[in-house]
Amino acid sequence: MKSLMDGKASTGAEKRERIWMKRYENRVQSGETKNRCEFKSTCFINIVQTGRDRLSNLNTQLAHGPTNITDRGKVDRRNMLFGLGGLYGAANLASNPLAMAEPIKPPELDKCGTATNLNTGKELDINCCPPLTQKIIDYRLPPVRFMRTRPSAHRVSPEYIFKYNMAIDRMKRLPANDPRNFMQQANIHCAYCNGAYDQPGQGTLDIQVHNSWLFFPFHRWYLYFYERILGKLIGDPTFALPFWNWDNPKGMTIPPMFMDPKSALYDEKRNQSNLPPAVIDLGLTGNTDPLQVVANNLTIMYSEMIRGNKTAEDFMGKPYREGTKPDPGPGASERGSHTSVHAWVGDPREKSGEDLGNFYSAGRDPLFYCHHANVDRMWTLWQYFLPSNKVPDKKITDPDFLNAAFVFYDENAQLVRVTVRDCLDNMRMGYDFERIDLPWLDYRPPPQTARARIIKASSDAPMASTIFPVILDKIVRVQVPKAKKGKADELLLLEDIEVDTTKLIKVDVFVNDEDDNNNELDKAAYVGTYAQVPHKTTSKNAKTSIRLKLTDLYDDMDIDDDDTIVVTLVPRHQGGGITIGGIKIIEAPAENKSGSSS
Ligand code: C2O
Repeated sequence: MKSLMDGKASTGAEKRERIWMKRYENRVQSGETKNRCEFKSTCFINIVQTGRDRLSNLNTQLAHGPTNITDRGKVDRRNMLFGLGGLYGAANLASNPLAMAEPIKPPELDKCGTATNLNTGKELDINCCPPLTQKIIDYRLPPVRFMRTRPSAHRVSPEYIFKYNMAIDRMKRLPANDPRNFMQQANIHCAYCNGAYDQPGQGTLDIQVHNSWLFFPFHRWYLYFYERILGKLIGDPTFALPFWNWDNPKGMTIPPMFMDPKSALYDEKRNQSNLPPAVIDLGLTGNTDPLQVVANNLTIMYSEMIRGNKTAEDFMGKPYREGTKPDPGPGASERGSHTSVHAWVGDPREKSGEDLGNFYSAGRDPLFYCHHANVDRMWTLWQYFLPSNKVPDKKITDPDFLNAAFVFYDENAQLVRVTVRDCLDNMRMGYDFERIDLPWLDYRPPPQTARARIIKASSDAPMASTIFPVILDKIVRVQVPKAKKGKADELLLLEDIEVDTTKLIKVDVFVNDEDDNNNELDKAAYVGTYAQVPHKTTSKNAKTSIRLKLTDLYDDMDIDDDDTIVVTLVPRHQGGGITIGGIKIIEAPAENKSGSSS
């Protein structure tokens, strides 16, 4: 462990770990067992321990080369198919429609094109294509000699801020055509989400890294190289990006280091009403009571990390393969806290919500990478540290996921090809996160039993079958038949959601709630959200779907003999832009295998 750590930051981390260890031992001695930890923030100690185990296994894993340890022993379906050669015929394809699919291939940089601004019909005012080079190599994760520990942005030292500022400043001063230059790095995001790349061999089908299971892996690789470039520019192989700890009340403002107008970390294109001390509104409810906003935020975190997910895809996003249309469906975290932070920081004085409020420009604000470091942290927390009984199978083993690939320029300006399978474990990639309390971990909303029943009984909402499709330009309330009577294990499906991709969209979903005060989310009736960050793409419309787990909600609302529930859809954005094709409730599939998309 010692040899992997270096410098001041890790000394602090070790000290904290020792404190946690002590607290944990005290608890064990006082008779509080480990099991109690299931849903409590006291789980920290498990986190620390798991972290250590993973760390000690790390170099053993790396000795095995690029094959990801987490996938060893699994049979790669594709290899089997190749092995069988022509045997795999049309009959089989019919019974397994996915077998014909291939993973998303990396873009061909020489075919990078300009994208269209849909508001004007003209080409986008910027060219976000990267510089071309001849040689591309398959990236191998280097052995981990120094662990980079990403710190919480609200807790860093003046020395850290100085170093970070210097690194970004140097990045901005690199020649404009150096792929590591600040603007070039920002354009990576633009190119991958803006229709600049087509899927190789698939006509004009765009490559899109949002609203699917590629969301977490793509952004992880993006930040990985960004961090290494910064480290290289200041000669510090332990340099780690800060994370904006917006899931903790202490981190719920824009981190102070981004606020100094003289700093390289500053960006003036931000919503001036949301600068500190404004508390971030992860629900975009517009609620003006900061304490209520904090309660909303913790509820949202609990909902998107724990309560609302039945399968890995509910959290990660829907399958997205070669030949399929972009935006099949975002996961809970992407469409939730992630989208809200973009929208909340983006500047309403700008035409398209620049910088953070629109995908093409988001990477121009240094705060973007700090935001996404926390998004990435959510993936790690969900994957390794959350109570696993909620989503029994968190691994997506589908080869079309694992073999999907991207290209980036690394810290030496070498063009490299990377795959999803190599980014599933952040420690193996050589970075970890400072341990911070997770106050949302046990933030289950209080039960709402009797009241919910009265509302249900008195509701005169129309049946779902009679009103869809519906344009969501106002609150919509419908009765939806349950799949089974009583407290079943069920999912709420919002299907054929058609969105205008150029607009900010956000819709909150409630059950058996006719409360006028839908700006308060810390109640059992709040189920979850659909939201998207505007992006400028060639196809203005996307068709997508999401599902929300109802099982815990049924408990909290005491849904007894009911065979219908009342669903309320509350749009938070201005003026339509979204049509819901249908709503239904299905029984949760017994098997939680990934690949079972519906
Ligand atoms: Cu690629 Cu937060 O977006």
